[in-house]
Amino acid sequence: MLNAEFRTILVFNHPTIQPSNLSTVQLFTFIFAPSTTPTIRTIPTIRTIPTIKTIPTMKTVKTPKKLTNILCIGAGYVGGPTMAMIAKKCPDRKVTVVDINAERIAAWQSDALPFYEPGLKEVVAETLGRNLFFSTDIPAAIAEADVVFVAVNTPTKTFGQGAGRAADLQYWEKTAHEIRECATHDLIVVEKSTLPVRTATAMKRVLESGGAHRFEVLSNPEFLAEGTAIADLEKPDRVLVGSDETPTGAAAREAVVDIYAEWVPRDRILTTNVWSSELSKLAANAFLAQRISSVNALTELCERTGADVDEVARAIGRDSRIGPKFLRAGVGFGGSCFKKDILNLVYLCEQRGLTEAAAYWNSVVEMNEHQETRFVAEMVHAMFNTVAGKRIAILGYAFKADTSDTRETPAKVVADLLAEERAQLVVCDPYALPNARKELARHGDLVSFEEDPYTAVEGADAVAVLTDWRQFPELDWARIFARMRKPAFVFDGRNCLDRRELFELGFHVRAIGKAPLSHFA
Ligand SMILES: NC(=O)c1ccc[n+]([C@@H]2O[C@H](COP(=O)([O-])OP(=O)(O)OC[C@H]3O[C@@H](n4cnc5c(N)ncnc54)[C@H](O)[C@@H]3O)[C@@H](O)[C@H]2O)c1
Repeated sequence: MLNAEFRTILVFNHPTIQPSNLSTVQLFTFIFAPSTTPTIRTIPTIRTIPTIKTIPTMKTVKTPKKLTNILCIGAGYVGGPTMAMIAKKCPDRKVTVVDINAERIAAWQSDALPFYEPGLKEVVAETLGRNLFFSTDIPAAIAEADVVFVAVNTPTKTFGQGAGRAADLQYWEKTAHEIRECATHDLIVVEKSTLPVRTATAMKRVLESGGAHRFEVLSNPEFLAEGTAIADLEKPDRVLVGSDETPTGAAAREAVVDIYAEWVPRDRILTTNVWSSELSKLAANAFLAQRISSVNALTELCERTGADVDEVARAIGRDSRIGPKFLRAGVGFGGSCFKKDILNLVYLCEQRGLTEAAAYWNSVVEMNEHQETRFVAEMVHAMFNTVAGKRIAILGYAFKADTSDTRETPAKVVADLLAEERAQLVVCDPYALPNARKELARHGDLVSFEEDPYTAVEGADAVAVLTDWRQFPELDWARIFARMRKPAFVFDGRNCLDRRELFELGFHVRAIGKAPLSHFA
């Protein structure tokens, strides 16, 4: 059998390999360019594909024409901003957000919101008490809701089966029980949290176990990014709503679509079956993280060859098939979602025996971990193989700019590793210091915290920039240099500083994916 590039011979025609050499589930294909020796490529084991059933629709749900009482369970980074935006855009709908965390609910109703997010304060100020309400009375809120969005946390499981990879669905299941027990009529339940594909089946089973009412379970994953949440919610690239493919599923889906259609153009609202919707969210995060790991996978080669990773990223990003976004090399990605969602995808693949797919996605996380640890190794190496007793100012602790969120921040990994090397750390961040204090408390006197960057660098041997806060490049670096001990080092983990300017000021400079600039001969 021939094709344009390779000649492919079916094994059964090959003189040395006979069909008797083959297991029933394995085929071999010989691929060779005209003048080269044949190579053997193994076609993987063919697995049996289970029949996919839709969610059993035992009963049908009567969907109200318009969903006027909207409830969201979970007042976190997703539930709070998303519902505030719905309240803003749909003034004739009542939006209630509930949470078991009374402190968080109180914070939403105060001047000090639970976290920093640009533009959030203004949206909450406009809607709070008008048609946006926060409460801890979950049963009462369920009783009067037409639709319940569930945006509770789904962290990586830390115990038992799937520990370290699977999603911990205990908060989800508790919510499902609570909805069933408190519902006073049929309800639409919308998965807003990021969940393993096929969670809706479990949800439906819990909801319809012995309760008096019927439930339609939809998936409407949230694609906002922290730091740009308000802009993302106001002008989303797309809104995704998945439902069971039955007449009542479609009716419920339309009612939810109508909420978003109040401000999102219809052609940006995608509807799918519920499984595609659940998987699309995991897949989107895996793809985004993969782009970062891909560009980070080039950084060491750049450092050793004189190529500049920013220039390479700009060059490849101009290709319209690749695109310019998410190609910024750095110390690694953080945030509550990327790692947990990829590991969840890995687990879902493993559970189904898809070993190669699992290993492929896992490598995205491994590359990220490598990037964090190698950053510290480079620091130690550059500073004459010891940082013990040296003062290092860490500029930036949040996992990225414009958020106070520190979940999975690379800065914690870097700080932990440097503290293990007995460096004396001073952590500086405009919004994340409360979290940093809690997360680094175990290092005792090795770590201190400082709001003012100029005080943080006083007497420091090195500065490490770990969050791309826009104020850091704007600092007076000559003043910083003057305050530091010499030799003074800068390690730019976000490639946000002008390294040539710093070098001219007298710093020894290392940036990710760029040749080091050193004054040593
Ligand atoms: N943070 C993001 O950028 C982002 C973006 C898209 C999707 N997501 C997904 O959205 C979900 C929520 O993420 P988050 O960052 O908002 O989490 P979060 O931890 O900030 O908020 C979750 C909230 O749910 C509350 N909660 C837990 N169990 C509850 C219960 N039984 N009843 C009432 N409240 C309960 C918690 O107290 C917490 O306040 C996750 O699945 C996440 O993967 C997050």
